[in-house]
Amino acid sequence: MINTVWQLSGDMAERYEEFLVPVIFVPWARDLLSRTHLKPGDKLLDLACGTGVVARLAADQGVSVIGGDINPGMLAVAADRAKGLHVSFQQADAQALSFEDGCFDALICQQGLQFFPDKPVAISECFRVLRPGGRAIFCTARGLDENPLMRSQVVAFGRHLGEDTTMAIRSVCGFTDPDEMRALFEQAGFSPVNVEKVVLDLFAPDGRAFVNGMMKSTPVADRIAAMDQPARDALREALLQEFGACFDGSALRFPHSANVAVAARPA
Ligand SMILES: C[S@@+](CC[C@H](N)C(=O)[O-])C[C@H]1O[C@@H](n2cnc3c(N)ncnc32)[C@H](O)[C@@H]1O
Repeated sequence: MINTVWQLSGDMAERYEEFLVPVIFVPWARDLLSRTHLKPGDKLLDLACGTGVVARLAADQGVSVIGGDINPGMLAVAADRAKGLHVSFQQADAQALSFEDGCFDALICQQGLQFFPDKPVAISECFRVLRPGGRAIFCTARGLDENPLMRSQVVAFGRHLGEDTTMAIRSVCGFTDPDEMRALFEQAGFSPVNVEKVVLDLFAPDGRAFVNGMMKSTPVADRIAAMDQPARDALREALLQEFGACFDGSALRFPHSANVAVAARPA
């Protein structure tokens, strides 16, 4: 069955951590943490934590972190990679958080909001679990036209695997309007709310190795694994070609564009 939202199964969480996290999610986690102004001892919720990159980097700063995600496979990798750090992980649906009112100083959600089916309920839950004066920092990808990483997959998967396989990647760029994002936070009671476009310049020194890894860590990785080797090689080359000038024949350097919301729960 085709995965129409962004959920990974089997060993794909391992591949996500191995291939996608260093190139995409570490730079974003650093950016978001620099906007959060955490102090040692603060309590942070890393919501939709995936394999826990934000949680690990925050724990390195002496912050006490809980990572929550709906996907047990992602959480298993997160727990394994965070051994020895002051972090715990638990299964959590953003729309029904099990935490007490006001128990976090800050909440970061990196590339998760676009997948929540009921966004107003999820953002109200975030408001509830933050203490007065606490801050929420969210980032969600902007459109396919601004993101060669996702656009290349939509085009190449559509041609080589069928249009139905593009749904999960399209869902990554499924919540792109900054005004809609701002209204979501304001309606939940956050004030002030600042939403800005942020573009990071991402770099994979070995573009082919990165794209090979990406093909193993997308929600349609099972379909790609079922192709024969020449077909898989053709798909990889098509993906690289769709990156256009971002691929120089060896390395990939591409813009990654997102809306970043910084929202405060009034003190
Ligand atoms: C693209 S990954 C981002 C993971 C992580 N924040 C990172 O930066 O690597 C999206 C994550 O959102 C999680 N997710 C989707 N819907 C969710 C929900 N309703 N509640 C909690 N997590 C959810 C997925 O399981 C997945 O781990």
